[in-house]
Amino acid sequence: MTPYVADPVYLNGRWLPLAEAGVSPLDRGFLYGDGVYEVIPVYSRRPFRIDEHLKRLQATLAGIRLANPLAVDAWKAVVSGLVDAAPWEDQSIYLQVTRGADDKRDHAFPPSGVAPTVFAFASPLVTPPAEVRARGVGAITVPDLRWARGDLKVVSLLANVLARQQAVDQGCAEALLIRDGFVKEGAASNVFVVRDGILLAPPKTQLMLPGITYDVILELAEKHGQPLEVREISEAELRAADEVWMTSSTKEVLAITTLDGVPVGNGPNAGRPGPLGERMWQWYQDFKNTVMRND
Ligand code: PDD
Repeated sequence: MTPYVADPVYLNGRWLPLAEAGVSPLDRGFLYGDGVYEVIPVYSRRPFRIDEHLKRLQATLAGIRLANPLAVDAWKAVVSGLVDAAPWEDQSIYLQVTRGADDKRDHAFPPSGVAPTVFAFASPLVTPPAEVRARGVGAITVPDLRWARGDLKVVSLLANVLARQQAVDQGCAEALLIRDGFVKEGAASNVFVVRDGILLAPPKTQLMLPGITYDVILELAEKHGQPLEVREISEAELRAADEVWMTSSTKEVLAITTLDGVPVGNGPNAGRPGPLGERMWQWYQDFKNTVMRND
């Protein structure tokens, strides 16, 4: 079986086998979920939009008032060290920084001498297989119970975990998060809606993670002349949509074909992936094969 994590992993300046990598049980990531992360897709051993991912990491670190432990070039060296050592052409690089381990438990920040914990590893990049894409996936809607800084990619993911598990319990792949009557995103993805040929995308606010894939979708829509509106999407519009998609670095563009058990869309194609999603997936593949693999 393919291992999920390649050896070596990176931990606090050292390269070591996963089995030998350990952190203190007093680490604030463990005690408080006090840390941040990134997931960077790698195509043909080329990290995709690494500068944008590292910028988002920096913005999240600033948002939780944690100094970035590594300069951009040092992060790039960590990522390329992982990519070079891993056996796969397409990978997913996971980076995590926590506020480190003090010698006591106290909610307030530890003294400045406490070093952050930096952990990173490579996994194979597994995108949805053709048969899943052909069918699309089911999603449920749930109230968005997360804190009010969804724009920060923090490891405190309990609300996301519970939402995603609720979806899995109901045989679905994703939970769409509804706040104040509007759909914000999925538990681990961004959401797009198609209505009357127009692509709708929720705006980047503090209540949504600014997805790197989301940006690519907007760029591809503009490049191909696809009508696009970036604005809040009401729950009613979501339920009346012709198409609903989820996007992320690992899911790419994936059609949601049932919502709370009801087929998405109208007419004979209800409950099937729609034409615009198919086109966007193809544009994404073309972009991946011409640009991402040669970046
Ligand atoms: N999740 N929104 C949320 C809440 C996410 O967790 C993610 C990604 C996205 C999409 O972001 P991007 O396009 O940059 O992957 C949106 C990653 C993959 C994860 O948590 O594993």
